[in-house]
Amino acid sequence: MSDFIPLSAPNLSGNELEYLIDAVKSGWISTSGGRISEFEEKLAQYLKVKKVAAIQSGTAGLHLAMILSGVGHGDEVIVPTLTFIAAVNPARYVGAEPIFMDCDDYLCLDVEKVAEFCETECDFANGRLVNRATNKTIKAVVAVHIFGNMVDMYALMALAQKYNLKVIEDATEALGSYHRETGDFTGTIGDFGVYSFNGNKIITTGGGGAITARNSDLVDRAKYLANQAKDDDVKFVHDEIGYNYRMTNLQAVVGIAQLEQLEQFIATKERNYNAYKAASLNLLDFQDSVRSNRWFYSLVTDKRDELLDKLKANGIQSRPIWNLIHTLRPYKHCQSYMLTKAVEYWQKLVNIPCSTTLTTREIDYIVSKIL
Ligand SMILES: Cc1ncc(COP(=O)(O)O)c(C=O)c1O
Repeated sequence: MSDFIPLSAPNLSGNELEYLIDAVKSGWISTSGGRISEFEEKLAQYLKVKKVAAIQSGTAGLHLAMILSGVGHGDEVIVPTLTFIAAVNPARYVGAEPIFMDCDDYLCLDVEKVAEFCETECDFANGRLVNRATNKTIKAVVAVHIFGNMVDMYALMALAQKYNLKVIEDATEALGSYHRETGDFTGTIGDFGVYSFNGNKIITTGGGGAITARNSDLVDRAKYLANQAKDDDVKFVHDEIGYNYRMTNLQAVVGIAQLEQLEQFIATKERNYNAYKAASLNLLDFQDSVRSNRWFYSLVTDKRDELLDKLKANGIQSRPIWNLIHTLRPYKHCQSYMLTKAVEYWQKLVNIPCSTTLTTREIDYIVSKIL
């Protein structure tokens, strides 16, 4: 057993190296190369969607989703406060302001509170939802599927239809989670869905991401914008402002190898989660209605800081959940609505090691130290 157990390590035990060697030998290492489209096709097939665009990061995908949702200067966007900051910053990239919302008992956006906010704090007329406090138009909602859970997407979509809002699903942490009854994967229900393949995610490409959209023409638009809005390959014609957001062929081959193992990773995540639970650790539940990818395990404790220190002293990496975004300097001045659960959970959750590479011995050791 190693003397340091990381929180979430990548598992590169499949065909990653073999495919990388082939890619390097072929010379296709950058943003051209056939394996990028192969990765896109395989991911689209897995998600049961028409098209996916492979990009440089989840953050880039959320930025593109904001642009393609028509969010711009002076608009507002509903976001959760309990999330990673990359889910919120893209609103600012396009000049919009966030309004912070609470979470439910699965740490996901509380859709009932969002509905209540729209109902009681806003006016809806001529297809525009106007925030009475600021007189600004609310254009979109960012629904983050925290730790592999799923936002109540069906209620949110009904709300979005009622108030003419775009829904951007941040499924960066939830690739592979789906609703058991409908079979819909996270990221495929809203207007846009974004995935991350950062090093700590359920599958990784080192860094990387993907975007999909209900209207598949918008996936083509995302690809176009991600590729410097290049209208003519030879003559360098660009009719719009684009971005350098495309995934590389090297990342794509790692992604292909990782996708081959995704279901196996999810099964391992579930087995490890059950082992912790069987050892009486007080872990937060995942929803019964969702086949969750069980990306991160959150331990509920009244002794958060003490536990973090003790685990660190014993070579076990653990983390509190993120500081709530509405408390951070760039966002302190922003509006928030009835935040209660997010504050409670923030105080008492510690994420514990959840890598698919964890051994039974390591799990036993972690459990013994926590207990
Ligand atoms: C909720 C959430 N949103 C966005 C991101 C950003 O993804 P990336 O690191 O690929 O830019 C992450 C993870 O890093 C995340 O956890």
